[in-house]
Order: sequence, then C-alpha cells, then structure tokens
Amino acid sequence: MSFRNKVIYQIYPRSFQDSDGDGVGDLRGIIDRVPYIAELGPDMVWFNPFFVSPQRDNGYDVADYRAIDPTMGTMADLDELIAALAAHDIGVMFDMVFNHTSTEHEWFRRALTGEQRYRDYYIIRPPGPDGGLPNNWESKFGGPAWSPFGDTGDYYLHLFDPTQADVDWRNPAVRREMADIVNFWLDHGVTGFRFDVINLISKDADLASSPAGVDPRVMYTDGEHVDEWLRELHDASFGTVPATVTVGEMSSTSIDRCVSYSRPGNRELDMVFNFHHLKVDYPEGQKWALAPYEPMALARTLDEWATGMQDGGGWNALFLGNHDQPRALDRFGDAHTYRVESATMLATMIHLLRGTPFIYMGEEIGMTDPEYAVIDSYMDVEARNAYSLLVDAGATDDEAFAVVAARTRDNARTPMQWDDSPGAGFTTGTPWLAPTNQEHINVRDELAHGRIFRHYQELIRLRREVPDIADGSYAPWRLDHEHVYAYLRDSVFVACNLTQEPTSIELPEQFHGASPLINNYPDDSDTGQSELHLAPYQAVALVKGES
Ligand code: GLC
Repeated sequence: MSFRNKVIYQIYPRSFQDSDGDGVGDLRGIIDRVPYIAELGPDMVWFNPFFVSPQRDNGYDVADYRAIDPTMGTMADLDELIAALAAHDIGVMFDMVFNHTSTEHEWFRRALTGEQRYRDYYIIRPPGPDGGLPNNWESKFGGPAWSPFGDTGDYYLHLFDPTQADVDWRNPAVRREMADIVNFWLDHGVTGFRFDVINLISKDADLASSPAGVDPRVMYTDGEHVDEWLRELHDASFGTVPATVTVGEMSSTSIDRCVSYSRPGNRELDMVFNFHHLKVDYPEGQKWALAPYEPMALARTLDEWATGMQDGGGWNALFLGNHDQPRALDRFGDAHTYRVESATMLATMIHLLRGTPFIYMGEEIGMTDPEYAVIDSYMDVEARNAYSLLVDAGATDDEAFAVVAARTRDNARTPMQWDDSPGAGFTTGTPWLAPTNQEHINVRDELAHGRIFRHYQELIRLRREVPDIADGSYAPWRLDHEHVYAYLRDSVFVACNLTQEPTSIELPEQFHGASPLINNYPDDSDTGQSELHLAPYQAVALVKGES
C-alpha cells in the first residue's frame, strides 16, 4: 500500500510565508520555501484550503472550490508550486471542505434568490412546531445550528459558523458536484485529498432533535450513509487514479466506524484522523475547561486505536497537532526545560506507530504556543465565541482567558518562525497573528545547531527504509508502566518516556542486546542487556538482527 511508508507535512498557508508584505502567507511565499520542505523530506504536503473565501473561518468557508483566493495567489502560482514540489517528488494534498459551503458560494446565493435547484443543495427547514428552531442541534462554534434563511421565514442548517451552510448530501446533484470538484483538481496534478469533517455529511433523515439528555451530535455524526457516499465519491473520482492518497477527518467517531471508512476493500478512504487521543486532557470531554494531563492516558488511547484499527484492518493517520490544536509540545511535553527532548520524544512515539505520520508545520523546529496576554490577540472565531460564553456563564476574565489561551486553535496558527526578526522572517509587514518567541525558536538557529529538525529527517528516512515501521504489526509492551509508552513493530521495539522522571523498562527477551535504531539523546545510552534506562523524555528504538 503506497501510503504506508510515506510521511505528510501539513502547511497552514496563511502562516507559512508571506511574499508581498501584507502579513498573510501566500503561495509565492510557499514556492520560495520549497527547498526547506525538500530538506525535511516528506512525501506529500497537505495544504489547508486556499480557495476563494470570505475567510470567516480562515478558508474553511469556501465560496469557490475551483479558484484560488486572491490574497493567496493565482492559479499560475499554484501550478508553479505543484511543479516545484514535484521536482522533489513531493505530492500535493488538498483540503476538500464538503460538509458545508460559504454562504457567499454561488449555490447559496442562488438558493437565496429562490432557485429551487440550489435550495435543494442545502438543508432548509420551516420553524419547528412550536414556532422556534427546527431542532435542538448546536453549532460546534457555539450557539444554535440554525439561522434564518433570508427573509423566507425558514432556517438553514450550519453545524459550524452561520456563514458555513451545510449542504444536503442526500441530493445526488450535490454528490455529483463534489466528485466533479475532486476530478477538477486531479486534472491539475493534485494527488492527495483530505476531506474535512466528512463523517458529518449524513444527518438524521428526519433532522430530529436528540432525545432529552442525549448529545445532539449523535444525530448527525457517523450517520447511516457515510460509507455509501464515500464509496460513491471514491468510484466517481479519486478511486480511478491509483496513486492518490486520501484521509478523512472524523469528528467524535469510533474505532468501528473508522475501520469501515479506511479498510482497503471498502473503497472509501486510505486513512482517518480521529481525535480521541487529543481529548485526554479534556475534563469529561469538555474542550473549554482545564484538567491536568495524565501521560499514560495518552498512551492508553493511542494503544486502543492502534490495536483496534489493526484488528479491523483499518489505517490511522498519526498526528499530535494540526491547525485546530494547541501545540503538542505545550500539552504533552515540556516546552521549557525539556523542549528539545520532549519534541523529539513525541515525534518518535508518533512516527514509529502503525499508520501514516503527519507533521504539522513548526513541529520540526519545536514551536510552542504563543505567549499572549489579552483576548484581543486571538483571531479565531471559535476562541472568541468560547471566551464570551465562558464569561456569560460566570467565569472571571482571567479564568476565561486561561482556558482560551490553553485551548485555542490560534496556538498552532502563529506564523512559521524562520528567524529572530520582528516578523520572524515570515513577513516584512505586520503578521496577521503575532509570533512571540522567535528570538529563541526559529528555523535558522534550528538548522545551524538544533536537533529536532534532524530527528524528523531521520524518522522520515527510517519509515522508508525499515519495512516493519511501514508494514509491521503493532503490539503494546508493559502498558501498565507509570512513565513509559512502549510497543513492538515486529523487528523494532520502541520505548518513550512520557515524563520528566528518569526511569527504566524491562526489554522483551528477543530484544536483549539489540542495536539502537534511533535515540533522541545524543550520547550512546546504556541500552543494557535486559532493561532500558530512560532519561527525561528519552525515546529509544531498538532493532533486532542489525549491527
Ligand atoms: C475542520 C477544520 C477546521 C474547520 C472545521 C469546519 O474541523 O479542520 O479548521 O473550522 O472543520 O470546516
């Protein structure tokens, strides 16, 4: 399977490199940085959406799926970028936002003017029997999931911002449109597709409210037609081009469903993102609340998914961060005392698991959350809503700020730090979101004398060269350890100290005296005969039968 030995790098185009000084990243900026991407060595780059958009949700509100947003560049720039990456054998993955369109999309505008054909593209309903909203569903960005549809007296559904209207996948014409868009980009040389919140496309047939006490999300998540419509999309578009790589973003999902979405025989997707491991520090599943992080809870969740997906024959996308998550280093590592050690440990843990690793831009230089002091520094629509909701619910400003600062998606969206200048080498203008610690974390210093970038290069190389990393089976080892997440990939044994406590772990017998494959500490650690000693956040992999 072609995607098993690949590594994918994620670029958030708004924040990677600005070429024209307007403070927002663009395609020409990315073209200038292709040599850097090539030096890291991924097989493919996933770009967050840069299509025409009013940018209410930074491009996840698409107004034209076939055109580049003018702030990002032109179609000619895109062709140049695709060619520049192809020259290094790096493919391009696009982000297809097919659960909803911007309300500025032509379809929605024509629906508003009364064209029945386009009204049928959306989920528009009269008020409920009590004259209120059609049902009890809530927007994932806060507030109700329904807004008035012009002055018709009806409402349209939006599971995200009111400017992101959900489309009606029950309508075959909508499904045809989506396949046509994928085919349009396939013709442009795009060979990867990430499908945004794709398990939300099949809503409850009656759009019923959830029963009292039941989370409304069950009414539209992993619905009855997701498998069928993914298969239809596969057969009508990317499935006809064998070299494509596809990944679906699955919101609040289950292992069983993800096995089904990613089993090769099902003709749906190559792999899935799930978020269970990124909720281990949510108290009772609540995003906008704080709880201490328990390292072995992360290990147990990663293990549960690795085992469950393997048993069912599915395939995981492996990641700890993306444009929607705070920096993994701040959550699961130590961004201060052990920044280098914990960044490289977390990378090792993820890259040697069964699945396809994704690197979120900046992870390879150990970027951290920004240090902002006031709520106005954040731009994220979700964070701003959350702050108001917390204050309305009685939190003090300081309490609400602390929660938002820890959780906001803007933590990952600050500009890529290329050097220590005020614009971090990202822009000559005013960055749309301010960098805060480029003096001591930046690409220039990292390449000159850092260890994190080199460690990522090594992990990418190992996945290509060691067949068991790509294709070997997965088995946990001593999951009851207090500090260490360890696992076996046939001929490879991996042990990661998730904490700052020095510790040790007994080795499986077949690895007694085995040779080190990769180690995030520079010195030759004492791998011992029968046990492995691990320094704070140390990660070591051993391989059998090599000298
Ligand atoms: C996904 C995207 C996120 C976006 C949302 C709505 O979760 O990753 O950034 O806001 O979908 O499209």
